[in-house]
Amino acid sequence: MSRYLIRGGNKLCGTCTVQGSKNSSLPILAASLLSDGETVLHNCPMLSDVDATVKILTFLGCEVQRKGDTLSVRAAAASGSEIPDGLMREMRSSVIFMGAVLAKTGRVRLSTPGGCEIGLRPIDLHLDGMRKLGAAVTDEGGFLECTAPKGLHGAQITLSFPSVGATENLMIAASTADGVTRISNAAREPEISDLADFLNAMGAHVTGAGEGCVTIEGVKKLHGAVHTVIPDRIAAGTYLAAAAITGGSVELNGLIPAHLGPIIDVFEQMGCVVTAKSDSVRLSSPRELRAVRTVRTMPYPGFPTDIQAPVTAVLTRARGTSVVIETIFESRFKYIGELVRFGAQIRTDGRMAVIQGVEKLFPAHAETPDLRGGAALALAALSAEGESELTNIRHIERGYQDLAGTLRALGADVAYE
Ligand code: UD1
Repeated sequence: MSRYLIRGGNKLCGTCTVQGSKNSSLPILAASLLSDGETVLHNCPMLSDVDATVKILTFLGCEVQRKGDTLSVRAAAASGSEIPDGLMREMRSSVIFMGAVLAKTGRVRLSTPGGCEIGLRPIDLHLDGMRKLGAAVTDEGGFLECTAPKGLHGAQITLSFPSVGATENLMIAASTADGVTRISNAAREPEISDLADFLNAMGAHVTGAGEGCVTIEGVKKLHGAVHTVIPDRIAAGTYLAAAAITGGSVELNGLIPAHLGPIIDVFEQMGCVVTAKSDSVRLSSPRELRAVRTVRTMPYPGFPTDIQAPVTAVLTRARGTSVVIETIFESRFKYIGELVRFGAQIRTDGRMAVIQGVEKLFPAHAETPDLRGGAALALAALSAEGESELTNIRHIERGYQDLAGTLRALGADVAYE
């Protein structure tokens, strides 16, 4: 099993270019199934979650090729309707294939995703929406089956919560449905707009993405497209956190700074100086970080749940008491038990964590519980003078392309074994 050995204490300084967005790449790759031509996707990060998505595309009958960070997908001959349990289990987000497979073949059968490290993650909103689009849904023996032999039709759908995955699945399914679909209370994350841009490049008619009410006028077919995935705002936030917790200064390039608004705001409250240009962000940390009164995770444009753990790690070194409230996922504090091994002083009560800043963290052995929690532990290790060991890092490899190499380029002492 791979591990990171991190000798902390170095201030991270320098410049790096941020990877393409994991959370954009996955739904866009699923949507590429609907194209009758070739999809060329630039800035697609090298991650195990992307590999798992490619395996599913290949299983369904697509031809997929990768050259560096460009993936090409030919889906015209793909006719599969079933995703085996083993492939579904490799990545919880594979439920994003539901809309694409159903729209393409009139049927989809996949195993129920079930809970994961960060919570129960039900998919009722996805299924209710598919029913509104005309699908019959059965859920038996751990398998879900949606059928629409005569095709899907447009519908008015109001989500009771702006779920990112449900919005994406329904946008994909509705793009070739008969008639107009309106999704109200849709998620507004940048990844939703990126998916809409990709679908439109394939010939779909999607408007309102990013504004909370998405309208999709169904078209008969979708053609090939060339698209560049947006930069990963969560990876960017993590590297800003690495500079902040080590007292360093980094410049990140290839970004859309507006996507980082609520993240930058929290670093500024800690006393960091953040300068955003058209496609870069520079963060310089102060001599001493300040605590932040309350950080509350919210759907976009609120503070992202995915950066909650990295920011909590930084707050362990901020003078004073900070409160972090997690409102999106119910089990997203598992990493805190590991963070205290580094000497962090944190108490949790349900969805609230109270962090008392300490002057130093100490090296420790820690086990990664999930993707973003793992990033938080890597940050603690970068701050602690001496050698720390991080195990179970396959979680981190799901979402960070060459984390060790990127941190090393910024001056960290990190070995990957
Ligand atoms: C996506 C992101 C994930 C991010 C999350 C919130 C991807 C691959 N993953 O996950 O990194 O943390 O958005 O920004 O893009 N819910 C229901 N019923 C549903 C669907 C969701 O109750 O049918 C609940 C979930 O349990 C959770 C909340 O809604 O509590 C948010 O989930 P959602 O926005 O759907 O997140 P994902 O799309 O799974």
